[in-house]
Amino acid sequence: MNTADLIWLNGEFVAWEDAKVHVLTHALHYGTGVFEGIRAYETEGGTAVFRHQDHLNRLENSAKLYYMDLPFTKEQIREATHELIARSGFKSCYIRPLVWRGYGPMGLNPLENPVEAMVAVWEWGAYLGEEGQQNGVRARVSSYRRISSDSLIPHAKASGQYLNSVLAKIESLKSGYEEAILLDDQGHVCEGSGENIFVVKNDVIHTPPQTAGILDGINRKTCMQIARDLGYELVERDVARAELALADEVFLTGTACELTPLREIDDIEIGPPGPITREIQRVFDDALRGRAPQYAEWLDLVPVPSKA
Ligand SMILES: Cc1ncc(COP(=O)(O)O)c(C=O)c1O
Repeated sequence: MNTADLIWLNGEFVAWEDAKVHVLTHALHYGTGVFEGIRAYETEGGTAVFRHQDHLNRLENSAKLYYMDLPFTKEQIREATHELIARSGFKSCYIRPLVWRGYGPMGLNPLENPVEAMVAVWEWGAYLGEEGQQNGVRARVSSYRRISSDSLIPHAKASGQYLNSVLAKIESLKSGYEEAILLDDQGHVCEGSGENIFVVKNDVIHTPPQTAGILDGINRKTCMQIARDLGYELVERDVARAELALADEVFLTGTACELTPLREIDDIEIGPPGPITREIQRVFDDALRGRAPQYAEWLDLVPVPSKA
């Protein structure tokens, strides 16, 4: 992991090794944090953060759902992120903002604990590997169900909730697969441990709806729009587990994995990435890297600091 020299912590730029919190930080004990995963890409016009405002809006929504006010405005976090990227010298990077309940009373009631914030950036390649992105990955259906809204908040990207994804990920890796697909509480296909899922059958693209307990993925929305703009029929509906194995094509989307095809589920071959997956992947890649003028509004260019 190639990290920047600095981290933005509670309004200050501090050295990477000095970005510390107290061991009684509430979030460390109870998972009371919310975060984002964002990427910035090298484009012809300079480094650009992909759908930055959408990520900041989701961060604010996640905080709201856990009774936290952002301690800085979204614009302050956006500008701090720009400065961090500019000072890191990275042309492309992964961006991790985190907002959490800090050191204070140690009970379950977090409402008296301070809300803190940080942003870190580092260089991070293809999350499921270059090879996986090109040729597809193997996944299993997890024995863990995705969290549901009767016990947690699938719409929030909250730290403690990720124990669910962590267990599913470990289970899949230990049993020899690269990724886990979680079913929702009804037994329908929900999503990957950190990705949304799309299933192609007879030229129609299907993806589970928000009511299936998915995280409302920003790259999911991006690929939905791209698919519709390309003229494909795209349906949000419940997807049965067997439809994965019987699909013509299956692919995953997320900030970390971008668009990664699934070539096998539960040891049943789906096949190499198909033409619809390839086409959406190509346009998506163009959009991320500023080669698709029709999607230029998704790019938040990092200002180049003046030399003066
Ligand atoms: C559980 C989960 N689902 C889906 C996604 C995809 O969301 P996005 O496209 O906004 O990165 C992520 C990644 O953030 C995730 O952690």
